[in-house]
Amino acid sequence: MLHTILPVFLMNGILLVIAIVLIIAERLLVTYGECKITINKEKIIAVNGGDSLLSYFAQNKIFIPSACGGKATCGYCKVEVLSGAGHILPTEEVFVNREERLKGIRLACQVKVKNDIEVLISEDLLQAKEYKTRILRITDVTSDIKYVVMQLSEPNEINFKPGQYIQFRIPEIEEFRAYSIASPPSQKNILELIVRLVPGGLCSSYIHEVLDVQDEIIVTGPYGDFYLREDSEREIVCIGGGCGMAPIRSILYHLREKGMPRKASYFFGARSKKDLFYTEELMALEGESSGRFSYFPVLSEPKPDDKWSGETGFVTQAVERHMHSNGDTEAYLCGPPPMIDAALKVLAKKGVQDIHIYYDKF
Ligand code: FES
Repeated sequence: MLHTILPVFLMNGILLVIAIVLIIAERLLVTYGECKITINKEKIIAVNGGDSLLSYFAQNKIFIPSACGGKATCGYCKVEVLSGAGHILPTEEVFVNREERLKGIRLACQVKVKNDIEVLISEDLLQAKEYKTRILRITDVTSDIKYVVMQLSEPNEINFKPGQYIQFRIPEIEEFRAYSIASPPSQKNILELIVRLVPGGLCSSYIHEVLDVQDEIIVTGPYGDFYLREDSEREIVCIGGGCGMAPIRSILYHLREKGMPRKASYFFGARSKKDLFYTEELMALEGESSGRFSYFPVLSEPKPDDKWSGETGFVTQAVERHMHSNGDTEAYLCGPPPMIDAALKVLAKKGVQDIHIYYDKF
């Protein structure tokens, strides 16, 4: 047995050593000289090649979203490359579908700049900025979710659409994580976030265990295609779970400020009563809306102590029971992937068109 396994181990060991030597040799010996990164056919950045596109963007204050710190595990840093990037890497294939590949979409963190390169970046992304903020308040809203309020100091105002997100920079580590904004866009100087503690999560652990009032934090943004479409009068249905509350709260508060111009309903799923939050404020919103907004908190595993007489089961079952649609409804979904997948099926049954469904899985 040993004499068959040993050569395999030896061969793997040799290959590993060769790979490490090649990586070190490339870093020490290979220089790519000056390379030009042309953005949107107009702006040119001259760099000394060898690093990733994402690094050069960051050095030049172009804030492409990058929730995994360049490890190719978030898929957020997509840009369209027109020329000069070489072949797509296996690390990118999980995030870039066939259609995107044909368009030249790449992960900026995986594209090494070795020669001149041309990229297209959307105007929205080019508008993203870096903001200095100070923490004003941190409170527990459930046993594993904190509500964080931050005040912008430099620049002191941010413009965003209800539903978008910012990236929070973890001090010292210089890695970013994405959090949806829970406050409405009218609040330009204050950002509210809702952060669930993810076991082993770098940023959520930092926010839950280290972050304190008065701390200075850098955020970048705004980002994201998940935002309220305001050029429509369709009725709105929102479906959320956990921290999916944040962008939907921003959307609903924005609608309230506008006088609730469109009818809306919100189905929020939680396990038991201790996992519900903002119930009172959403009930108050329903009460003041003159029938234009309905809130449905839904518990999948209510405890006897909860004395719960409201909706039970999966949140999507409550949608099935209560949603009335003439097909001309717009849907905003935010929560865990299984919830979104189930919601898409229910919405299809209710006749909601795909083009009117917006979702954010996390
Ligand atoms: S930064 Fe996360 S995939 Fe590129």
